[in-house]
Amino acid sequence: AQSGGVVIVSNRAPVTFSRSESGERTYARGAGGLVTALNAVSRRAEGALWIASAASEEDVRVAREPGVCEIEDLRIVLVEHDPSAYDLMYNHLANPLLWFVQHGLYDLPYAPELGGETLRAWEEGYLPTNRNFARAAAEALSDMEEPVVLLHDYHLYMVPELLREEVGEEPLISFFVHIPWPEPGLWRVLPSYIREGVLRSLLRSDIVAFHTRRYARNFMASAAELLGAEVDPRGGAVRWGGREVWVRSYPISIDPAEFEEAAESPEVLREEEYVRNLPGALLVRVDRADLSKNVVRGFRAYGRMLELHPEMRGRVTFLAQVQPSRGDIPEYAAYAEAIRRSAGEVNEAFGTPSWRPVELSMQDNFPRSVAAYKNYDALLVNAVRDGMNLVAKEAAVVNRKDGVLILSENAGAHEELKDNALSVNPFDLDDQAAAIHRALTMPAAERARRARALREAVLSNTIEDWVAAQMHDMAARRKAFS
Ligand code: G6P
Repeated sequence: AQSGGVVIVSNRAPVTFSRSESGERTYARGAGGLVTALNAVSRRAEGALWIASAASEEDVRVAREPGVCEIEDLRIVLVEHDPSAYDLMYNHLANPLLWFVQHGLYDLPYAPELGGETLRAWEEGYLPTNRNFARAAAEALSDMEEPVVLLHDYHLYMVPELLREEVGEEPLISFFVHIPWPEPGLWRVLPSYIREGVLRSLLRSDIVAFHTRRYARNFMASAAELLGAEVDPRGGAVRWGGREVWVRSYPISIDPAEFEEAAESPEVLREEEYVRNLPGALLVRVDRADLSKNVVRGFRAYGRMLELHPEMRGRVTFLAQVQPSRGDIPEYAAYAEAIRRSAGEVNEAFGTPSWRPVELSMQDNFPRSVAAYKNYDALLVNAVRDGMNLVAKEAAVVNRKDGVLILSENAGAHEELKDNALSVNPFDLDDQAAAIHRALTMPAAERARRARALREAVLSNTIEDWVAAQMHDMAARRKAFS
């Protein structure tokens, strides 16, 4: 039996398999902050097993083959779900419902009407897929001693409870929530079987973790208010059902060396030719096409800035790299349209034959995003709410222009970076317009000072530190309760 084995579970897998035209199996490494970060965990915890959903047809073939799939330094087990159950979990329950509630995207009067469909998505989608994850984890644990199970994110909230049913109290379970945990009032949008079900299940973990102290506080307040749990906010503990759960915050980060290396790759150098040829100063954003990212208000704020400061016209280009995301969900498809429309409106209002104010590219183009990171004069991160936002950290590390970061006060990254960013209220267009103008006209000395400090802030807490802090607390937890 393997002692101290680590099992990671997330919905997204670190790689997606496909079949080439010649019939050979190939794979692409998954992008996205969560998967990149978990790669670091997986590397650090030698022999760790990573359980995730099969997403492509070829993934399903891999899932049906017995044993563990070894790719480079990763050991992967893919879980096959019933397609309609997965659709209910991913496209109806996790997104948009949980995602929207947790990002505050429903104003209360506009909250959805929840009825029979919600219950169906919960019972026939969320619960069965979570049971699949729990079974796969239980199987992996069967030959491990003192194992640690690391569960990740809002697709998996019921796994702690379902896993305890299978394997009991022995494994150490940590649950990391990568998205905001809002104040208890917002959770009241959801039916009690969801909000109480989720809380009860999470409290079967040993440690529940978030990116910021604010989310950890909100979680403890939710446990107290919605469940009646006994909470010790200063000690970071919740007592419920005869157990004590630790609530912690670990701000996630990046692997700076990885981004430095990517920044010098031939693909990025090629994209830089395009980026550098755009006229004027460069304002950049890089996001998934997600309502939480606040892309439309960003364009409108930029338009406001051009309206108020005519002298800036023709002297700046806004390069927006927006990757398609979750396109099967009607709200997302409509939002992608709204993004195109609002970029078009700014171009129509202010563009000239020789100047297009907004360059919108709606595709997943990592080399171009990194090229934009290196060359921005100002970076706009104006999320309505965001668990952390790693774009702000990635970009600060590789930027070569003493670029200024404009950062939403509702991004998790704000807790660490606020001193050297320009903070904005993501709802206030005037505030954002003023910040864009200030960033683009800031004296060189101040830009350099802020850019240096931002970079240092990121380098002082890397992904390695994120992993180490959690491993340390899990060892302490094991000791305290053994
Ligand atoms: C956020 C979530 C992750 C998710 C990622 C990409 O970062 O916290 O759990 O994997 O978005 O979204 P997707 O739906 O494509 O997995």
